Amino acid sequence: MEQKNKPVIEVCLSPALLHLYNVADTVVVIIDIFRATSTITAALHNGAKCVIPVASVEECIRVGASVSGSITAGERDGKVIEGLQFGNSPSEYPSEFISGKTLVLTTTNGTRLLHMVTGAEEIVIGSFLNLHALCSYLVLRGKKVLLACASWKDKFNLEDTLFAGAVVDVVQNDFEINCDSARAALYLHTQSNGDYISFLRNSSHYLRLSAYGLHDELAYCVTTDLHPVLPVLRGKEIVSL
Ligand code: MLT
Repeated sequence: MEQKNKPVIEVCLSPALLHLYNVADTVVVIIDIFRATSTITAALHNGAKCVIPVASVEECIRVGASVSGSITAGERDGKVIEGLQFGNSPSEYPSEFISGKTLVLTTTNGTRLLHMVTGAEEIVIGSFLNLHALCSYLVLRGKKVLLACASWKDKFNLEDTLFAGAVVDVVQNDFEINCDSARAALYLHTQSNGDYISFLRNSSHYLRLSAYGLHDELAYCVTTDLHPVLPVLRGKEIVSL
């Protein structure tokens, strides 16, 4: 009987390495645990109509003014930006507030990476909040996967890599792993023993954001499967599948 080859799964540890990967026929998973992809996942699960990721603050304000029922949000260097209405924290978007609205979002790394990926089969959003919904989808699609970490200004970061490892851990029997960054991510995830917040406590962006008093947001962002939704990019909008 003919044996079907398993699709390949790879991990890109930084946007600076993206050019090394061929994303044709590939489902690309954008990962920015602290906090863009966590915020997108929470907003969509809580009923946002869609999320429009934009590259600049100016564009965010312009798009926000042209789309009715939208709100503008984002951060630079982890701080809320003057001129935008809201920040980049998942807990800012409960259903009572975000349901039916369009979230126009600009962030330092996450939305930047979203705009860098071109020519992929599909772009989806990953976070601990939708870990198993994402993994089920990747297995179902049966396509090559690239887990793309937004990192911090092109530098490796622990939280996105930890999440990539969590995904590899769940789907490893359904994919071929021939990529050392996927293996490294998996080792890292094993090291965490599932205690994500303790594992990340000394990481650079954890320290940056906790200095702004955002401890509760950080704990929120590593809560597994709180928002079981699958955000996908359709044209310029991220919608819930
Ligand atoms: C980003 O896109 O760089 C992040 O989500 C930053 C943050 O909001 O902490």
